[in-house]
Amino acid sequence: MKCKRCSGSAVVELRRHNAAFCKVCFPEVFTEQVRKAIRRFDMFDPSDRILVAVSGGKDSLALWDVLLTTGYDATGLYLGLGIGGYSDRSHDAAVAFAEARGAELRVVDLAERYGYDIPTAGRKGSRSTCAVCGLTKRYVFNRAAAEGGFDVIATGHNLDDEAATLLGNTLRWKTDYIARQSPALPARDGMVRKVKPLHRLSELETAAYAFLRGIDYVVEECPLVAGNTQLRYKNAMNTIEATSPGTKAQFLFGYLDRGIPLFAGDDDVALVPCGSCGQPTIGRFCAFCRARAQILGEHLGSADRAGTDDREVARSLSDEVLPAEIYGGAET
Ligand code: AMP
Ligand code: FES
Ligand code: ZN
Repeated sequence: MKCKRCSGSAVVELRRHNAAFCKVCFPEVFTEQVRKAIRRFDMFDPSDRILVAVSGGKDSLALWDVLLTTGYDATGLYLGLGIGGYSDRSHDAAVAFAEARGAELRVVDLAERYGYDIPTAGRKGSRSTCAVCGLTKRYVFNRAAAEGGFDVIATGHNLDDEAATLLGNTLRWKTDYIARQSPALPARDGMVRKVKPLHRLSELETAAYAFLRGIDYVVEECPLVAGNTQLRYKNAMNTIEATSPGTKAQFLFGYLDRGIPLFAGDDDVALVPCGSCGQPTIGRFCAFCRARAQILGEHLGSADRAGTDDREVARSLSDEVLPAEIYGGAET
């Protein structure tokens, strides 16, 4: 196989592009795709301070690498979730990368700062482990960015992540989630701008980039995600992709080109500061503070909640719509 660009010996084959690239050209092609995403969605410019959420995995380290290499002002943020050896190794990979690149990495330890870890949250809260983890990440990323004076938060979500999320939201016609599944969500009322510069690149492409760039990332997946719905949707997309290469990209890019306007307005909610932490929310207390209180067995403003019995609180806590509406996202 020959490299499509230079006719050298190809090391990466991209079936959906019907092309292959050598070890020198592929990282350039990858970087061009990131640039294209940044331009097309006007994600940030060189004067912006970017906070990159770095998990220690291939996607976020590849993203941080591209941003640093192309001259952006990108600080890393690692959130210690307390998932045993997996979290320790993820932390070490993020720290090693930052040291090797002379880049600044901020570390927030969930247990130290907020009093719980993810395994405990999964056992004690009313949400599934992955749901409370997703809510926690979105909250901590936004708060760290707002408090640190950053202009934008960048995450390493790739094409596979985004296509699987869109599939899940479409299967259940979660129109408010679909409306917010843009690779760039503007800043508003205490919410920092959020971008996903790798959304044009597949998991395989980011793995190839990380490998060719010599990035030492954590290969293992989180041990708590087994059976996770997102994973099942990813597998379903991969099954289709195997016989129809390009379907994943057509599904996501078609939505971004033609679908987004159809859902605009479905996520209109007014945001006010949370009565406990001051972060933006649509109710009196934000979903994070309510989840945290439940996990820690604390009460939030109980005097004001006359008439609200435990079952009602539990019901509202298990409402999975809130965090995604507010924190951008999509379920994880
Ligand atoms: P995930 O939610 O695990 O699919 O990860 C999606 C993105 O969230 C990653 O590409 C990272 O940008 C970010 N992320 C996930 N886990 C962490 C973490 N522990 N610390 C910082 N960023 C994270
Ligand atoms: Fe969140 Fe595993 S990383 S549950
Ligand atoms: Zn709050």
